Amino acid sequence: MCGIVGIIGKENAADILLQGLEKLEYRGYDSAGIYVTNGQGENHLIKSQGRIADLQKKMNGDVNGTIGIGHTRWATHGRPSERNAHPHTSENGRFTLVHNGVIENFEEIKQEFLQDNLMEGETDTEIVVHLIAYFSERTETTKDAFRQALSVIQGSYAFALIDTQEPEVIYVAKNKSPLLIGLGDDFNVICSDAMAMLQETSRFVEIADGELVIVRADAIRIEDQVGNLVFRESYEAQLDLNDIEKGTYPYYMLKEIDEQPSVMRRILAHYTNEAGETSVDPAVIDEAVHCDRIYIVACGTSYHAGWAGKRLLEELAGIPTEVHLSSEFSYNMPLLSEKPLFIFLSQSGETADSRQVLVKINELDLPSLTLTNVPGSTLSREAKHTLLLHAGPEIAVASTKAYTAQIAVLAVLASAIGRAKHEPAAAAFDLSTELSLAAAAMETIVNEKMMIGQLIEAFLADTRNAFYIGRGMDYFVSMEAALKLKEISYIQAEGFAAGELKHGTIALIEEGTPVIGIITDKKTAAHTRGNLKEVESRGAETLRIVSDSLAGKGDQLVIPEVHPLLSALVSVIPTQLIAYFATLHRGYDVDKPRNLAKSVTVE
Ligand code: G6P
Repeated sequence: MCGIVGIIGKENAADILLQGLEKLEYRGYDSAGIYVTNGQGENHLIKSQGRIADLQKKMNGDVNGTIGIGHTRWATHGRPSERNAHPHTSENGRFTLVHNGVIENFEEIKQEFLQDNLMEGETDTEIVVHLIAYFSERTETTKDAFRQALSVIQGSYAFALIDTQEPEVIYVAKNKSPLLIGLGDDFNVICSDAMAMLQETSRFVEIADGELVIVRADAIRIEDQVGNLVFRESYEAQLDLNDIEKGTYPYYMLKEIDEQPSVMRRILAHYTNEAGETSVDPAVIDEAVHCDRIYIVACGTSYHAGWAGKRLLEELAGIPTEVHLSSEFSYNMPLLSEKPLFIFLSQSGETADSRQVLVKINELDLPSLTLTNVPGSTLSREAKHTLLLHAGPEIAVASTKAYTAQIAVLAVLASAIGRAKHEPAAAAFDLSTELSLAAAAMETIVNEKMMIGQLIEAFLADTRNAFYIGRGMDYFVSMEAALKLKEISYIQAEGFAAGELKHGTIALIEEGTPVIGIITDKKTAAHTRGNLKEVESRGAETLRIVSDSLAGKGDQLVIPEVHPLLSALVSVIPTQLIAYFATLHRGYDVDKPRNLAKSVTVE
């Protein structure tokens, strides 16, 4: 989703902005732009639809300056186009601004303050820069004008603003959208994600919602809503540049698929004490032991991980668990139990739909726990408790290692709660052993990736649609498998409860329709096989992913058997590889699927 970078105090500002924007490419975008000034009247505003590489071409190597802001835009209001790309400039050319988020009352602002202004594009952002210009004619300082504008804006935002009359400053403010200040020696940077500026600095300062920050090359000043000075310690980003490089891999997605066994081991190391027992923050366990129902709230892949989590929490911890889509939950809240505990699953920790629910939960003063991959992310800061996924940065838009890390951490949590509650199922579940076995099984499959690539080449070569089916945990994985396939290969895919297919969707099965069955559960294996026969008799081409103890003649993908509660960790790996190879065979960019964003910071 949209990304912001900014720099003040370095000679090669344009190069640094471009490098920063490249690091933000993974979040998804459709246009980009930069504004660079040398503070002495040489100002460059360059925008381009498409990739950063297109922007770079347009810059032609001759953009000089020491101060600048840059932006990658993921269209919300207005089509992707050069006109709608950021930065936006006020009519008098004095102010230039980039924005992440959505201004909800932009029509009202236009009506009330900006009737005489000529808008160039259709974005909600453009009105903000005009509004600042409007207030600047009615206030003493740019800071006051900016603050006045902020006071009438409703919605989510991270802003970076440059005033040509004050080129030694970048003004910054945020509300609900992420933004950080990075500290350097005689220079400072801003970015919506620490990754973007890690090449320049690893020392960052967080900004809270409602604050306004004046960033100079040698100092930053944070002010609260009424202008009081705020002091905030900086922190060292726990990110390694190597973690965010592809290395020898052709795509991040493949690297991240391969990393999954080691992520499992890392999670075990983080959540196991010296005696080899599961160890989770006692405050979290205490909260869970006293709740009567768990509500898992999440979006996309995290939502699918939530379903595996439900099974783990109900079986090991004995707590009834519901799984909800964030975007539905906030406006259609179910009847809550007396002592609910909310678990927010979010790789990025920034997803606006999930945050919207958390804000409501906090207003109701109910306990919450975020499971996230990003320490210090919004959902982590705002929830009462956090457990980290320790998956390392996930760059590919299609989420893989975050899914399995979420399930593994949910297994850790469920087992720890169950043990605290003396649940017999938890006592009988040896998490360390089972998770280690699952990691080894994952490794076996990733080592066979080329075979999977060959197997599916013809199978998915030119199909328009495909189905995944399974029951229980295999159904949960089917939903995720189908999402992965459609996200990057653009094959219209559905994940179905195997038994449900015949109640309608079987009408879509034609000669050659690919149907992939996932079979890891002894109880339901025969039924799912029966459902595969039903579709075969209607012309479907089937492919079976089957645990070795249940495998039969002709099953194409036999995977190692693991504890049934952890089967999703293993059965999902071939489906990730199927999506990866189908995309490669079809000639699409695996890491940058069209229309998608990694971290969706608008509702
Ligand atoms: C976006 C991404 C998905 C992701 C979802 C939830 O839609 O494209 O891959 O699963 O957001 O993201 P989160 O960071 O909250 O897990």
